[in-house]
Order: sequence, then structure tokens, then C-alpha cells
Amino acid sequence: MTGLPDYLPDDWKPTPEQLPRHVAIIMDGNGRWANARGLPRLYGHRAGVDNVRAVLEASVEFGIQYLTIYAFSTENWTRPTDEVNGLFQIMGEVIKSETEDLHRNGVCVRHVGRTTGLPEGLLVAIQQATALTKDNTRIILNVAFNYGGRAELVDAVRRMIADRIPAEQVTEALISQYLYTGGQPDPDLIIRTAGEMRLSNFLIWQAAYAEYYSTSTYWPDFGRDELRRALAAYARRQRKFGSVLTSC
Ligand code: IPE
Ligand code: IPE
Ligand code: MG
Repeated sequence: MTGLPDYLPDDWKPTPEQLPRHVAIIMDGNGRWANARGLPRLYGHRAGVDNVRAVLEASVEFGIQYLTIYAFSTENWTRPTDEVNGLFQIMGEVIKSETEDLHRNGVCVRHVGRTTGLPEGLLVAIQQATALTKDNTRIILNVAFNYGGRAELVDAVRRMIADRIPAEQVTEALISQYLYTGGQPDPDLIIRTAGEMRLSNFLIWQAAYAEYYSTSTYWPDFGRDELRRALAAYARRQRKFGSVLTSC
């Protein structure tokens, strides 16, 4: 589609036409990253959360408008309590320490997911970050935390019923509006680190026509160059949306 060669020149960057507007990342492999170093899993989570900054900066550099990161799923509650609490602690600390900087850099932070069950301190940190950055437009950073695609659909249906939406007014567009991501474009590209080939309940409605990219690299090691590779893979794809390409 793009005439991109198989090898990737060092200076290659996506053109505006090649660029996905919305990139979503399943940040997986923190535990294995730590395990490979003989460290406890929480060290991997710390390294993983620290890595968001580099990938966010690279996303801004490439011109991505929406970045959604999967940080904690509704199924991750089944992990040992120490790991869950440790993750909440790390997230709370990092949100607090990074909010001002994110704001200065024009990042709009949004939370996608449920608030139920999250500790008060973490909720306050999330609310402060989203309130402070709400009018920023350089990049939208959706943090999928306590997020599940099925829970999101359940919440959307509940809100539609609460709003007394008549059955005949329920359309695909309306359901999209009622999701946590209402008003945002669907992801064009979904990246999963650490090699698994599954969605794990991530953006199951919005991902209907997303392109997938999987890399064996663990999330804490996924940097600018890996993102560039994912964008290059995306630039080579032919998106057809169920139709027939006129050139075929
Ligand atoms: C992803 O890393 C982070 C979360 C799911 C919270 P994992 O913790 O799933 O890492 P692995 O898959 O065990 O290596
Ligand atoms: C998906 O990773 C969730 C996040 C990255 C937050 P998991 O490690 O929880 O997914 P599974 O269990 O391998 O499917
Ligand atoms: Mg995992």
C-alpha cells in the first residue's frame, strides 16, 4: 500500500497519511521482565509504569493523537493481594508525581474503567490528573485502569436504560457514545507486548476493525524504536473494512 521496503531505514517516520490516529497498547510482560532478572514482580510493574513516559513522548513525536494504555484489567483483581495493592501504590505515586509535567506538555489524561473498589488515594490522584489536564489537546492519554471490555458494555447498557433510551434508538453509533471512550475515534492499531496473541478483554467493541501488532518484547523494554516498528508494520497494512480494494 505504501511502497515501504521490508527493511526499515533508520530515519523512517510515518507520514501523516500512514499514521494511526489512535494507538492502544496492551502493556504486558512486566512479571516476566522481573522474573528474567531474578526480581520480584512488583519491580517489573515499577519499570513498566516508568516506561510509559518514553512511549508517550515518542507518540507525541510521531504525531499520534490518542494513546490508550491497558494498565489494570477487571480480571487482574484475581492476582495476589500484595501484587494488586503494590500496583495501586505505584500507580498512585506515579500519577501524583507526573501530573504537573503531563499538564505542562499538553497531555490530556483520561481514565477509562470502573472506579469501584479502587483505593481512595488512587481515586483522588486520578480525579486530580483528569481535572487538571482536561482541556489539553496535544495528545489524549486514556489510562485503562480497572478496565474490562465486557464491564464497559454492561455499564453502557445500564446507562442507556437509566436514560430511558427507546429500543429503536439503539444504534452502533449510540452504543459507541455510551462507552468510556465515547466521542473518541476507534483504535486503528492495537499493540501487545510480551508475545501473547489475545485481547484479554481490551476494547472489545472498539477493536472491531483495528490492526493488530504483537511483539515478544516485554513492556518495560518497549521503547521508541519498537513503537516505530509497530507504526511501520501498520503503514504496510491494507485496511479493507469488509470492502474490496479498487486496485484489486
Ligand atoms: C502486565 O504485566 C501488567 C498487568 C497486567 C498489570 P504482567 O504482570 O501481566 O506480566 P506477565 O504477563 O506476568 O509477564
Ligand atoms: C492484560 O494482561 C491486562 C493488562 C496488560 C493490564 P494480562 O497479563 O492480565 O492478560 P492475560 O492474563 O495474559 O490474558
Ligand atoms: Mg500478563
